Amino acid sequence: MTFDDVSKVFVTGDGTRVQALDGLNLAVSRGEMVAIVGQTGCGKSTAFNLLLGLFAASSGTVSVQGMDPHGDFEALKGRIAVVFQDGRLLPWRNAQDNVALGLEYQGVSKSDRAAIARDWLARLGLEGREKAYPYELSGGMRQRVGIARCFALNPDIILCDESFSALDELTAERLRGEFLRLVKDEGKTGVFITHSIEEALTVGDRVAVFRAPGHVAAEFERPETLSEADLSRMRKSVRDVMATHPSP
Ligand SMILES: Nc1ncnc2c1ncn2[C@@H]1O[C@H](COP(=O)(O)OP(=O)(O)OP(=O)(O)O)[C@@H](O)[C@H]1O
Ligand SMILES: [Mg+2]
Repeated sequence: MTFDDVSKVFVTGDGTRVQALDGLNLAVSRGEMVAIVGQTGCGKSTAFNLLLGLFAASSGTVSVQGMDPHGDFEALKGRIAVVFQDGRLLPWRNAQDNVALGLEYQGVSKSDRAAIARDWLARLGLEGREKAYPYELSGGMRQRVGIARCFALNPDIILCDESFSALDELTAERLRGEFLRLVKDEGKTGVFITHSIEEALTVGDRVAVFRAPGHVAAEFERPETLSEADLSRMRKSVRDVMATHPSP
């Protein structure tokens, strides 16, 4: 996955031009988890939406597995899955049917998708809750269903935008740990967007610090083993880069 000198300009209803990304360069290797951290408005979600192919870049090249996510939208379908902040479950479908949703779109048979959905729900600790509706589940459980749905699709790439920020700290910590283990066990490539320096340092094999207008101001590789001293040094470095030009 690469962003090569990517810019994105939005033109609002009154003709105002908003430069959301300006010369964004970022490469994510296969099997790597890159955390993107930056202040509000610095272009994180815009970069994310470009990876999803929701719109085209104004200039530069976005490439996912050698393809243009906007132009080759159909070819990339099913290769990328997203874990949203709130799980984004359909309220009228039970947990199992929510997990099976993407598989339904992929044309997987009813019995296969039920088996895959049940398996992933069990792996996320939700055995016995397959028939529960979202309103019957806690926020943490709903997020587990959202993660199960993502893995059930068996994508190559997993994108997360503030996936755990709506949960209490302890639940988020536990679920984040489980999620990261699954990402590594399954050999997925990931991009994880967060406002939190702490979360970025926990999640990312590499941390890319965004600064407005949308570019990478610095990248930090996380060493294999991270001592408390390394961590506090990295924390300070990331904070210093983020704070150099405060976002609006
Ligand atoms: N569809 C749009 N039309 C016009 N401007 C937009 C649009 N989407 C984003 N922007 C602008 O582009 C800039 C970057 O927005 P973006 O949503 O990518 O930031 P972000 O880093 O995700 O912020 P946050 O941390 O608050 O989610 C902002 O100034 C925003 O107002
Ligand atoms: Mg955003």
